[in-house]
Amino acid sequence: MFVPGLIERKRDGGALLADEWRELVAAFQDGQVPDYQMAALLMAVFFRGLTREETAALLDAMVGSGSRLDFSHLGVPVIDKHSTGGVGDKVSLVLAPLAAACGLAVPMMSGRGLGHTGGTLDKLESIPGFRTGLSLDETRAQVERIGVAMIGQTPEIAPVDKRLYAMRDVTATVECVPLIACSIMSKKLAEGLGGLVLDVKQGSGAFITDAERSLELAQTMIRLGEDRGCPTVALLTAMDRPLGRACGNALETEEAIMALRGEGPEDVVEETVALAVEMLAVGTRTQGHRGTGGEREGHGRRRQTAVPANRPAGVDRAALERRVLDALASGKAAEKFQQVIEAQGGNPAVVEDPSLLPQAKEVEVYYAPKGGTILRVEPRIIGRAIIEMGGGRTRADDDVDPTVGFVITARPGQPVHTSEPVASIFARDRAGIDLGRRALDRAIVIGEGKAEALPLVSARVTAQGVEQLA
Ligand code: URA
Repeated sequence: MFVPGLIERKRDGGALLADEWRELVAAFQDGQVPDYQMAALLMAVFFRGLTREETAALLDAMVGSGSRLDFSHLGVPVIDKHSTGGVGDKVSLVLAPLAAACGLAVPMMSGRGLGHTGGTLDKLESIPGFRTGLSLDETRAQVERIGVAMIGQTPEIAPVDKRLYAMRDVTATVECVPLIACSIMSKKLAEGLGGLVLDVKQGSGAFITDAERSLELAQTMIRLGEDRGCPTVALLTAMDRPLGRACGNALETEEAIMALRGEGPEDVVEETVALAVEMLAVGTRTQGHRGTGGEREGHGRRRQTAVPANRPAGVDRAALERRVLDALASGKAAEKFQQVIEAQGGNPAVVEDPSLLPQAKEVEVYYAPKGGTILRVEPRIIGRAIIEMGGGRTRADDDVDPTVGFVITARPGQPVHTSEPVASIFARDRAGIDLGRRALDRAIVIGEGKAEALPLVSARVTAQGVEQLA
């Protein structure tokens, strides 16, 4: 294989054949293609893009680089959710146990903080003892036993994605629709899912801030999933302000627990319920489902196969929503989270008593410096400040302090008076408090006039098209 020729063709706007992508990925995995050639090719892809056929071929080669889980014997829909990442996005912590409490099997594979965004694994690890590094065998056994596992990418799952992702991170080639789509979908398809719900963030705090490109990302991932027999839908959700009030690992875990106990902020609960309904709706497109009324009694032994992607939805969303709200109100979702924590080595008592989570040494209230209307709460500034305060990473091997962050009660559109409390800063020392204060001075924009905020859930995207929800 003459790799410079492939790089040259992509650089000049041509396309590689499916066989060429397959051979290239295999040779890269075997160490026959050096990192510098792959990095050059990634940059060419960044500028020239990939055709549909190339995207599909790269995805298949990435999935094929590792193992695939198989849950087809469970007899219940196996569904996951993936978010494209945001600030204050603790939805996964609520959603995975909630969806499992509603009868789905959820092998949820998440990531760590990336760029200015937080990561589910870091949030979960703020629970004393919680272990996210389960093996594939442990994951399989846990999903069979309690219906849900919350884990990180194992070495067996799409290992080429892990290497390519690390390379893209240091070569400024992350923000590329086909590369993001292949990266995310390679891991999701390797999970052996019967369906997938994507939470595609829009707005200034999203990775892809341009609305058209975030829709293109959603549609690319949906096509890749559907073409491989994995029913896939996306909700487009707001990331022009942090989600909920808490930002920072332990603070977000506490807020997620409050949401599971029925005391969560409205936006966190609304978005989580909307995603849970989509997971159940996608689940109805796989055989072996028990219908919208009943509870699963166990993980039986029936075969699950996807029905054709173009089958009309015909889903009673109101009934699904009642089922989701009942799982929250009855305490079943909170109980499921306790089971997950216990199964993964953590202290389940945090669900009853969130004060068992690690606590910041310094806490200070932040007061509005002037009166007016809250025009914006800028998520990127908040996310970056948390990293600088020690709550995120600037290098892959950095330790994360789970205690630092913010609780921001100010919402866009809300009127405030001078000196009204609008946030709290959680830090490990005085320098952290000062840093947090300076960040809030820039992030919370107070002025006159009307705040412009995106609808929390603006659209549902399916293989059939885009349905506006707000
Ligand atoms: N998350 C991923 O897993 N991959 C990307 O490329 C971007 C976000």
